[in-house]
Amino acid sequence: MAKTKSVYVCQNCGAQSPRWQGRCNDCECWNTLAEEVLESQAKLSGMTLNQGAGELFSLDQVLQDQSEHRPTGLGELDRVLGGGLVNGSVLLLGGPPGIGKSTLLLQLASSVSKELAPVLYVSGEESHRQIRLRADRLETVSPAILVFNETRLEAIEEQIENCQPKLLLVDSVQTLFRSDLSSAPGSVTQVRECASALMRIAKRKQVSTILVGHVTKDGGLAGPRVLEHLVDTVLSFEGEADSQVRVLRSSKNRFGPTHELGLFEMGPKGLTPVLHPSTFFLKSRAANLNGTTVTPALEGTRPILVELQALVTESYAAKQGAPPIRRSVGLDGNRLSLLLAVLGKRLKESQFGKNDVYAKISGGLNLVEPALDLALSFALLSSVLEQSLPSTFAAFGEVGLGGELRPVPGSEIRLRELERMGFLSCALPTQSVTLELRKNMELELIPLENIDQVPMTLRKLGISENS
Ligand code: TYD
Ligand code: MG
Repeated sequence: MAKTKSVYVCQNCGAQSPRWQGRCNDCECWNTLAEEVLESQAKLSGMTLNQGAGELFSLDQVLQDQSEHRPTGLGELDRVLGGGLVNGSVLLLGGPPGIGKSTLLLQLASSVSKELAPVLYVSGEESHRQIRLRADRLETVSPAILVFNETRLEAIEEQIENCQPKLLLVDSVQTLFRSDLSSAPGSVTQVRECASALMRIAKRKQVSTILVGHVTKDGGLAGPRVLEHLVDTVLSFEGEADSQVRVLRSSKNRFGPTHELGLFEMGPKGLTPVLHPSTFFLKSRAANLNGTTVTPALEGTRPILVELQALVTESYAAKQGAPPIRRSVGLDGNRLSLLLAVLGKRLKESQFGKNDVYAKISGGLNLVEPALDLALSFALLSSVLEQSLPSTFAAFGEVGLGGELRPVPGSEIRLRELERMGFLSCALPTQSVTLELRKNMELELIPLENIDQVPMTLRKLGISENS
């Protein structure tokens, strides 16, 4: 009998090692190596995917790509995709369990089922009945959506030939397996092979395909990163546990932008688009609260007003000799630490060093823009001084290590959104304030060169250290 040979494959990045080790040499993740039987090359499919592969073309001979975006009818999804689905494109949709991936797929299936019929919904996770129950709840029952409960790739390939779908949905790629490979479903080899087989079909038949992928605890797409290289578009679906807001982002898009956000709210009848984000995120804002400032964030081309909250409070950890706590929700924790260091040094503000500091974006959004820095500084100082800022005041701008304020893109769009929402004044980097802006804005612009001008600004706004 032929001896089988095995290798240890990192389930995070796909790197191989001849022996087991606790840490992957490539991606440096711990405990991700799993034993897989080494398949013969004959069994593994090649990665050649596109028509015309293997032939030589001069660039001017290459036919223009007919990559037309086809709107899906779900506006927030179309925004992220850059207009809609592209024929023959393969999209990977990642997200933690329970976030709403299957719900989004079913709503998408229903929305496009008139134009892209039939839609083949392959589910390896839920039964026909469960899918029907969800469809009833979402009112998306349609004869054009064909449900196929299967995990064997060969059967799925056969079914695709059989029913010739225009849209293929696979929930999830980790449940699929090729029966001639001995690795378990969900292993790097299986996931990669099944995804590349579906990718080939998608390209050959020009079927738009969406693969659902699970994510690991730290938010990366589980199973091979190779999948991210393979597919045309990678979308992630995110949300905070205590919020109904769901955010769709793209980290890779061969056919469109990667910086647009799609915003949904999960409700009793599935996902509904958040059409007016600023109104939505400010609606539960309380008046006269210490430690809060509004900032006009810019995600892609859309400005979104959000409230930043900060809490600077007595530290029990510091009293025991431990470092005080710094926690952030929806914000980058490193930026918070950096900002505290700069504020501490420039403003001689000793409160930050000895107190616990918490910061959060209310509403369940997760933003990483450096433009949040200035508003966060105002929120932190407002919490230290225990006085609230005027509710019609906002701020934006990046803070450098010397406390200098740096301009950020899209000042005008941000200010227009503030005006539209009835704000009366906004602090921003001096360099962002052009003559044009001064002429066109009704809102009072408060230009700042350096973070050390914040206390003076606070005094002008009626907040002083001694009151
Ligand atoms: P689901 O789409 O199954 O998530 P995933 O496929 O990402 O695991 O969504 C599951 C959650 O969404 C579940 O907790 C119930 C909730 N939900 C609603 O709140 N409203 C709805 O209309 C639906 C269908 C689900
Ligand atoms: Mg699901």
